[in-house]
Amino acid sequence: MATTKQTTFSSNLGVIMAAVGSAVGLGNIWRFPYTCGKYGGGAFLIVYLCFVFLLGATLMMSEFVIGRRTQHTPVKAFQSLHPKRAWGAVGLLGLITSFFILSQYLVLSGWTTNYVWDAITGTLASLGTDAGNISNYFAAFSTSGSRPVITLIVFSIICLVIILCGVQKGIENVSKVLMPFLVLLVLVLCVRSLTLPGAGKGLEYLFSPDFSKLTGEGVLAALGQALFSLSVGMGVMIVYGSYMPLNDNIFKTAMWITACDTLIAVLAGVAIFPAVFSCGFDPAGGPGLVFCVLPNVFNTMGGAGVIFSTLFFLLLVVAAMTSAISLLEALTAALHEHTSMGRTFSAVLFFLLSTALGVLFAMSVGPLSHITVGHAHLTLFDFVDRLNSIYLPPICSLLTIIFFGWFMTEKDVKDELSNHGTVKIGYYRLFRLLSRYVAPLALLLVLITGIF
Ligand code: PHE
Repeated sequence: MATTKQTTFSSNLGVIMAAVGSAVGLGNIWRFPYTCGKYGGGAFLIVYLCFVFLLGATLMMSEFVIGRRTQHTPVKAFQSLHPKRAWGAVGLLGLITSFFILSQYLVLSGWTTNYVWDAITGTLASLGTDAGNISNYFAAFSTSGSRPVITLIVFSIICLVIILCGVQKGIENVSKVLMPFLVLLVLVLCVRSLTLPGAGKGLEYLFSPDFSKLTGEGVLAALGQALFSLSVGMGVMIVYGSYMPLNDNIFKTAMWITACDTLIAVLAGVAIFPAVFSCGFDPAGGPGLVFCVLPNVFNTMGGAGVIFSTLFFLLLVVAAMTSAISLLEALTAALHEHTSMGRTFSAVLFFLLSTALGVLFAMSVGPLSHITVGHAHLTLFDFVDRLNSIYLPPICSLLTIIFFGWFMTEKDVKDELSNHGTVKIGYYRLFRLLSRYVAPLALLLVLITGIF
């Protein structure tokens, strides 16, 4: 079935680094901690872990199988595995989702890039420890229009350059350097946070299970977060699967990626909450936790605060960059495969399109906030945030897993998981159960609850 193709990652380590790079992103460091805190700490964590290891890892393995088996990008991958070409629509939906996520991601990444600059130049430090001051600063910055747009463009240009360097020289090499650096940064921040007086309260908030706070909405959020965090349901892992060396063990690779992604999310919580509690701030800061509460926390640390805030926002930029690259790569590779356009042209085209849409979303927080969608009068940014977190990834994941579980031949699946019979697949029956029944039913249930 597989045809030989030029582009691959050079080694298993390269695959793991690039895929962990895609998985570890703003979802881990910006969204996971505040979502976990909001929905009952340890209680949310238990549900999240179940979703991640049972559903998320199953989906990741399925996407790797689909990608590596076919050596194609999503649309062609689905089409080549089934005579009904309409299945290609699932791949297309995944790519559309990737495009929307990338455009929204660029906005947040632009904010983060701006904060790195503000941390280095001492602007954040000059705001002092007045919570109002810092929130006003964030509000003024994010609604200003010009600076969010400039930093967004700077960030996207860096991503484009990495993509243009190629899969091995660009994505793989950058991930191999940035991922260990990211782990180091998060560990340094954890040590700092844990050695602050009263840090224990933050750990308690994060880990002690409060089941009374774990609502149905919390369970939904846990699933959405699990899919988003593992970068599944958008075709990205299908593309990365197609770059995976043929002798890599798909199960082991997926487990490593899932474990690393989860560990980094938890470590981000450990780096953030003890510091927030120690400095007496509100841990339920929601999405603003990172941009409004943390600068305050850093400013209470005196001179060292400048170093730690720079490190923290750098961590966030690094995490965001390897994720944005994976999204841009999926789109680039797909267009390149489907048309006669070269890789460079495809990358530049999607860079331009996603940056333009990103600019529109960035402006919708400020100068264009009067443009709203639906009865709830959501700004374009909030609308796309909802689309990206509640609807699109679960829908794409559901369709992907139904295809994988019910429409792919058992031979294709077994052959690919076992590397043509050379690797043991003792987990196969459990995996089949998960991919045919548990994952589709759970996703369907969550989607129906989410929509109604
Ligand atoms: N997994 C990334 C994060 O946690 C986001 C992402 C989603 C990246 C989908 C690529 C594809 O932030």
